[in-house]
Amino acid sequence: MDHQRHPDLDAFLPEEGEYTLRPKRLGEYIGQEKIKARLEIALQAAQMRGEVLDHVLLFGPPGLGKTTLAHVLANEMGVSCKVIQAPALEKKGDLAAILTNLEEGEFLFIDEIHRLPAAIEELLYSAMEDRKLDILIGQGPSAQTLKVDLRPFTLVGATTRAGLISKPLHDRFGMVHRLDYYSRAELTVIADRSAKVLKIELAAEGGVAIARRSRGTPRICNRLLRRCRDYAEVKGQGIITSDIADACLKLHEVDDLGLDGLDRDYLEALCGKFKGGPVGVRTLAAALGEGDGGALEDLVEPYLMQIGFLDRTQQGRRATEAAYSYLGIKPSIGPLFK
Ligand SMILES: Nc1ncnc2c1ncn2[C@@H]1O[C@H](COP(=O)(O)OP(=O)(O)OP(=O)(O)O)[C@@H](O)[C@H]1O
Ligand SMILES: [Mg+2]
Repeated sequence: MDHQRHPDLDAFLPEEGEYTLRPKRLGEYIGQEKIKARLEIALQAAQMRGEVLDHVLLFGPPGLGKTTLAHVLANEMGVSCKVIQAPALEKKGDLAAILTNLEEGEFLFIDEIHRLPAAIEELLYSAMEDRKLDILIGQGPSAQTLKVDLRPFTLVGATTRAGLISKPLHDRFGMVHRLDYYSRAELTVIADRSAKVLKIELAAEGGVAIARRSRGTPRICNRLLRRCRDYAEVKGQGIITSDIADACLKLHEVDDLGLDGLDRDYLEALCGKFKGGPVGVRTLAAALGEGDGGALEDLVEPYLMQIGFLDRTQQGRRATEAAYSYLGIKPSIGPLFK
């Protein structure tokens, strides 16, 4: 697609070295307490029975720890985890080859599982349910179906778009978990942990300042931590104090709520040009030069809804009163506040 990517979108992409910051055990995985409690029981029960862990579907906005959690679970089960990106699977044979090569108990992590082509998704149904694969060999009248038994395995699917998962696929997961945004307290712990792993000197208030602006997202927290380290080394004594964190995040135009340039552009377009809505996401995306709006739906809108700045209605997106007061402008003649 021929459109200019907004530079702020890069803040959501995995960064080099992210792997080193990934917790390896459930005990190191911070937050998501309810999900962890359920998974702990499932892990223990599977281990006691000597079975594989049931299939798990994880969904939630980017950077909340889906990939990390998949690896943590495999680790807790003492097995390895193969990773594939759903869009990379083009032919049924690609998935068949992967499934038949899985070791007993191994994990298969399918990222962006909402993007599986339909024919490949259907192949997964019997694989997940009966551990069987129907493979068609040959073509035309001489074609034969071969039934192949698979070794027990655990499928972990991850998606940022729960709404795009078909019901038959959804229903074949034994566990479905929705990851939530993290609290400031949890993000402060994550910042501390990451600082220790990366040997960064982070003062307590520095960690709080970073956590506050992390949009509830560990990936952003780790990214801001790295930027603050740079700043502390160049402009300070190498220690991330709250003053250093404040100055650095100001430089990067991340505000007190953690909103960045793209969030503000979005809100300004919604409240200004579109008078508070309702307006469709595609129209907003076109106004912002953001392609078909997928990135806005994944990255911008969930957090704006979480903090109460945005309502998604059937007619389209609407700004809330809080969004107007954040921008410091009065609701104009939009229909919302009449
Ligand atoms: N619960 C957690 N505790 C500590 N660190 C975490 C936690 N969750 C995520 N992280 C950190 O955040 C980073 C991003 O997490 P991860 O890659 O798992 O997100 P994701 O949900 O898979 O994102 P995407 O949708 O973009 O694939 C990881 O490198 C990890 O260090
Ligand atoms: Mg991921």
